[in-house]
Amino acid sequence: MLKLDLTDKQALVCGASQGIGAATALTLAKCGARVTVLSRNESRLGELRERLPGDGHDVLAMDLGNPDHLAEYMPKLADRAYNILIHNSGGPPAGRAIDADPAEFESGFHQHLIAGQRLAQALVPGMREAGYGRIVNIISTSVKEPIPGLGVSNTVRGAVAAWAKTLSRELGPDGITVNNVLPGFTETPRLDSLVAGKAKAQDTTEDQVQKTMLAGVPLGRFCKPEETAAAIAFLCSPLAGYITGINLPVDGGRLGSL
Ligand SMILES: NC(=O)c1ccc[n+]([C@@H]2O[C@H](COP(=O)([O-])OP(=O)(O)OC[C@H]3O[C@@H](n4cnc5c(N)ncnc54)[C@H](OP(=O)(O)O)[C@@H]3O)[C@@H](O)[C@H]2O)c1
Repeated sequence: MLKLDLTDKQALVCGASQGIGAATALTLAKCGARVTVLSRNESRLGELRERLPGDGHDVLAMDLGNPDHLAEYMPKLADRAYNILIHNSGGPPAGRAIDADPAEFESGFHQHLIAGQRLAQALVPGMREAGYGRIVNIISTSVKEPIPGLGVSNTVRGAVAAWAKTLSRELGPDGITVNNVLPGFTETPRLDSLVAGKAKAQDTTEDQVQKTMLAGVPLGRFCKPEETAAAIAFLCSPLAGYITGINLPVDGGRLGSL
């Protein structure tokens, strides 16, 4: 039987205390990986670690948007020989690009692009040595079709996608793949807050907002975080060894572009 097997692989999963990150940590552990879960909330990470099957899992509480934390923790991560990096954290606040304070762009770039670069620089040497590396960035369908009302996010995600494509070409010869997963509407706290925000802005109910969103999804339902995690786990596995530099939408068919 063909198996999605990550035995003997060590994974760092960022943004892991809830949502897509937490589901990914669980899925990778179920496939046999040893997982370090990273985010700001240490107690939620501790609870998650208790639920991970298998041994050798770890917790790292840090803020990816904080340059001091990056400077402090990256050298320690470099010593750990990770094979898998899941680069993920919370999305920038909603709002039109024209209304955003330039500082919002700056903090978005720090939390997403600069953190990704620091993480990659810390982990790639270990991946090279092991001859096996997987970097998966969790970004957004907005890299293909910018989403109205997410001005800072659209901009920052586009930069991350271009960075990832560049890395995929640079790191391919080392046996390291770099891919992006583009979640559609996924049932996480992030989606709950986007729905609540839209309902308030449009002076309507959350139910109505959800119906309008689902009208554009051919599969007619929201995504379970475990479904996104399954796609991520595939990209991390040896089965996906010839896939690099792609943007994989997990969006129930919502994107209209090819
Ligand atoms: N859900 C969707 O429908 C959807 C759709 C498109 C794109 N996305 C994108 O996919 C990614 C994951 O989505 P999600 O729905 O799982 O998000 P979520 O529910 O908001 O979870 C985000 C995770 O990132 C962590 N995090 C936030 N800021 C951080 C920071 N500065 N440093 C370290 N960790 C941080 C949070 O934990 P702590 O609070 O413990 O730090 C949390 O574990 C996000 O970038 C989101 O924008 C989601």
